[in-house]
Amino acid sequence: MTVKDVVKNENIVWHQHLVTKETRSILKKQKPAVLWFTGLSGAGKSTIAGALEIKLVELGYHTYLLDGDNVRHGLCQDLGFSDHDRQENIRRIGELAKLMADAGLIVLSAFISPHRAEREMVRNLLPNNEFLEVFVNTSLSECEKRDPKGLYKKARAGEIKHFTGIDSEYQQPLNPEIALPAGSQSIDALVDQCLNELRVREII
Ligand code: ADX
Repeated sequence: MTVKDVVKNENIVWHQHLVTKETRSILKKQKPAVLWFTGLSGAGKSTIAGALEIKLVELGYHTYLLDGDNVRHGLCQDLGFSDHDRQENIRRIGELAKLMADAGLIVLSAFISPHRAEREMVRNLLPNNEFLEVFVNTSLSECEKRDPKGLYKKARAGEIKHFTGIDSEYQQPLNPEIALPAGSQSIDALVDQCLNELRVREII
């Protein structure tokens, strides 16, 4: 950030609008939340989040699913996979998820988000109990066996650099709200586990 940027920020004042998060949530008859799916590429984040979103919509909830590969086609198309770029990727998605929760939505996000610090940064953007870290726990060997996009093969061949789990670190969550044994259970069972957890926490 430059000196000019700092001066610019000092001249920006928050405008408190009259239609609030509470109003929007009441209108939607739901509590906003962010379910932050994290795990290796190929772990099943998008698949589980997508199946959960269908169930939530069938139950009448208003949702939005933010997906890593999709967001990297637009909002984050200028970013690569260096630590710095991944940090910026997660910062932008975190801010976006916060705005969507402010709109009263139940947000599901599916990003590798490999670093604890960035996931904590997003958690700290939201009020307590609105951020749920969902660890999609599938081992590297299982992800590599699945290799749905052929990316592990390319990474092993040295054709992709900084690939998570190969030559770029993945830091497992230490205390996630939901830990999904995604290497060994069906999608239906994993979705049910998420729904149960949302009920216990009185989000749905
Ligand atoms: S994150 O690390 O910044 O959170 P994100 O979830 O947005 O990653 O994107 C991950 C997706 O990008 C993977 O599912 C995979 O399809 C693709 N990808 C391409 N290059 C890489 C890489 N070097 N490491 C991990 N994923 C990659």
